[in-house]
Amino acid sequence: MAELGTGALYQRFVGPLLSRDEGADAEQLSQLTLQALGQASLRRNWPLVSGSLAGLGAELEVRDLRLEQTLFGCRFRNPIGLAAGFDKNAVAAGIWHLFGFGFAEVGTITWHAQPGNPKPRLFRLAAERAALNRMGFNNRGALAARRTLERQALPAVGQRPAVLGINLGKSKITSLEQAPDDYASSLELLAPLADYAVINVSSPNTPGLRELQDDAQLRRLVERLRRLPACPPLLVKIAPDLEDEAIDVIARLAYEEGLAGVIAVNTSLNRLGLEQRRIVQTGRSLAEEAGGLSGAPLRGRALEVLRRLRAVAGPGLPLIGVGGIDSPEAAWERICAGASLIQLYTAWIYEGPQLVPTILEGLVQQLDRHGFRSISEAVGSGVGWR
Ligand code: FNR
Repeated sequence: MAELGTGALYQRFVGPLLSRDEGADAEQLSQLTLQALGQASLRRNWPLVSGSLAGLGAELEVRDLRLEQTLFGCRFRNPIGLAAGFDKNAVAAGIWHLFGFGFAEVGTITWHAQPGNPKPRLFRLAAERAALNRMGFNNRGALAARRTLERQALPAVGQRPAVLGINLGKSKITSLEQAPDDYASSLELLAPLADYAVINVSSPNTPGLRELQDDAQLRRLVERLRRLPACPPLLVKIAPDLEDEAIDVIARLAYEEGLAGVIAVNTSLNRLGLEQRRIVQTGRSLAEEAGGLSGAPLRGRALEVLRRLRAVAGPGLPLIGVGGIDSPEAAWERICAGASLIQLYTAWIYEGPQLVPTILEGLVQQLDRHGFRSISEAVGSGVGWR
């Protein structure tokens, strides 16, 4: 067994648990993993722990200068990030680079600690390589997140092996009217620890939240946050279910308000052809279930939204592509459509940690085949997979 790497171990032991909808509870599996990673991050300098973590890094990190970029003042070693929602409480912020990620986005964090929706609230759709979730921003709140990050004693902003994004949402008990102050309280507390911050106005699981994507509401929110002293680069994360005109409005707003970038997309309320698919645990169809869909079925729509943003905003606005990216081909497609960076969630769970180096190696190979000197030359180039 000693010769088996992390990727092979994951495939052997976790893979079978993920190959069926029923069986191991999806949320419990994530929680167990995060508990272990949280302990490892806190103790990453202890000799035994640091030895194992070094082994992990040696296996999963891909170092190649052609993958590096500097965007909105942050230096990214490579363009692949962990998407928001996995490390909601930022417990493993100190070690995500060892999984090969160039950046990690923690959260969503809200000002008030909150339990989220009743369980079960996360469901595998194994055959479709997809998931349905209605977690509802379960998190320990901004103050606890700050303490958790401080305890991990991360290198200073700008000097971390992986860029750290902090994704913020509205507390459930806060009205839409009070939303700007709610986000601002969280950001004020967490800004000193963030390389960048994300205004999440696109989760489908907090009632009313997505109304904040409306032009006037979003401008009010952005302007409130920018008044904070030492506001980090601000990005907005949008939903895949917006009409084309609404996407255009956000692209223009991002430009006019000087946002650092846009993240497209969050999970979808659209059932993307899976309306009749039943959730084993509840016996109801996806059409009847609440929650957002992620994973492979989202890939096409996520790509469309990204293309639209790029067409309206032009090359000057950094875009982060997320949704259904599960292979080097999917990553390359998103980058060539205009994403400077990409993020993974659902496929990273199904495929395991090996997915990050597999994608990075695929990207380097494509750079070679197309004669690009760096990943930034590929961004928005529109070329295909060779
Ligand atoms: C998410 N996602 C998410 N996004 C966000 O901005 N804040 C959050 O708290 C969460 N929480 C969350 C929980 C779970 C269980 C999932 C599956 C997803 C959305 C995520 O970051 C990403 O945008 C989508 O999942 C689409 O990417 P994938 O999963 O198709 O790669």
